[in-house]
Amino acid sequence: MYRYHCLNPISQVGLKEFNQEYEKTEGAAEADAILVRSADMHQMELPQQVSAVARAGAGVNNIPLEELAKKGVVVFNTPGANANGVKEMVLAGMLLASRDIVGGIEWLKSQEPADDLAKKAEKEKKKFAGCEISGKKLGIIGLGAIGVKVANAAVHLGMEVYGYDPFISVDAAWSLSRNIHHINEVSEIYRDCDYITIHVPLLESTKKMIGREEIAQMKDGVVLLNFARDLLVDEEALCKALEEGKVKKYVTDFANPVVANAPNTLVTPHLGASTEESEDNCAVMAVQQVMDYLENGNIKNS
Ligand code: MLT
Repeated sequence: MYRYHCLNPISQVGLKEFNQEYEKTEGAAEADAILVRSADMHQMELPQQVSAVARAGAGVNNIPLEELAKKGVVVFNTPGANANGVKEMVLAGMLLASRDIVGGIEWLKSQEPADDLAKKAEKEKKKFAGCEISGKKLGIIGLGAIGVKVANAAVHLGMEVYGYDPFISVDAAWSLSRNIHHINEVSEIYRDCDYITIHVPLLESTKKMIGREEIAQMKDGVVLLNFARDLLVDEEALCKALEEGKVKKYVTDFANPVVANAPNTLVTPHLGASTEESEDNCAVMAVQQVMDYLENGNIKNS
């Protein structure tokens, strides 16, 4: 019998993948494998018999990779399994940054129900006018599963899309998407794009990769989107740029209190992958990897 423990609630659809040889434990003490979503494992003392950790998600910055590697614990993640959910949030973020849909809804809800409401709305609506994303330039930094999906969808929405990946060459990037302009220098994105979205993992080398210098190179009134990780963007430089209007809107999925209270931000509480489909996909992939490892010794996506 194998035992697993879930540090976060994991989709039942995923857990049903486990065969009868598997049993869920209340605590980690007796588990062979740990399933985790966003819980921070850095301070956690893992019991000795744990041989696998599976992250039902793409980012692994909540997991002490080096420490676990030294102990021989294999860590899996589920790249691509929630890419559709995150892609849809990014598209929603671009649209919300461009059209004052939230302002319009809030205004309407705040009004007394009255017969002349429609007339009043007609007068008021110019306050909520926006612009279209079609025809605008979108720069995507990071062409993993999410970046490529965002690129392809944005092209279909009429955007001109530029892609840059700090880890792969332009030649390799062509095979990922033929819909977009692949560029060698990220500075071209900063210089030319109206919308810039970041899709790279949080590593020592990517921490604060968007700071004062990078923002200074961007177009005035750029819309910046960060659905990857909070710490990729230098908070101080960003807040200054928002105050000065250099960055017109910052759309992010991370509940950073300083950023949430800065002007012109749209902040959601890490909802990118919070869809039934993404949660199920991630859990299924994580469970399959754990089973394949415990039963056959196979290692994929570690
Ligand atoms: C991920 O790393 O896959 C996303 O941030 C979503 C999540 O953590 O649930």
